[in-house]
Amino acid sequence: MQQVFTKAMARNIFLGGAVFFLAIYLALSYDTWQRIPERDHADKMTSAVLRGKYLLDSNDCIGCHTVNGEGAYFAPELANVYKRRGPVFIKAWIEAQPTGVPGRRQMPNFHFTQNQLDDLVAYLQWLSNIDTNNWPPNIQG
Ligand code: HEC
Repeated sequence: MQQVFTKAMARNIFLGGAVFFLAIYLALSYDTWQRIPERDHADKMTSAVLRGKYLLDSNDCIGCHTVNGEGAYFAPELANVYKRRGPVFIKAWIEAQPTGVPGRRQMPNFHFTQNQLDDLVAYLQWLSNIDTNNWPPNIQG
């Protein structure tokens, strides 16, 4: 029988497919980049949010926690903790550490002032409003 599928055809299918999916990839990337400013709402970073971010970064909270999935996996995700717990719980929680409950993972006490706690909560609230398509899932860790 005659050969119907030539090398040239195989090459054309490969190249055509590569170009087609590259075009889809570029279009989707462009679409995502277009929407980043609205999704990350960086314009809503107030000075309290920036101070809270500095506190979170300089105290190495992500040495135990994750923020948007980045960090260590010893303690719960913090980017959505504001929605899970709310401001009152969060401040009381941070002040009450360590709990000393036997067999439970512990968090240190950072001796924050009330103003610092307010700034931290402002940052956690700002984080919780980034549109990440609900990733990571907001579950209690
Ligand atoms: C040494 C590790 C460690 C560090 C550093 C740490 N945490 Fe934690 N944190 C934990 C652990 C462990 C838990 C969960 C404990 C539990 O469930 O009993 C926790 C829980 C929390 C919770 C409650 C989470 C929830 O879902 O209820 C908040 C809020 C929190 N941490 C904020 C912070 C902030 C803000 C910092 C930095 C200033 C920080 N943590 C630094 C270990 C840490």
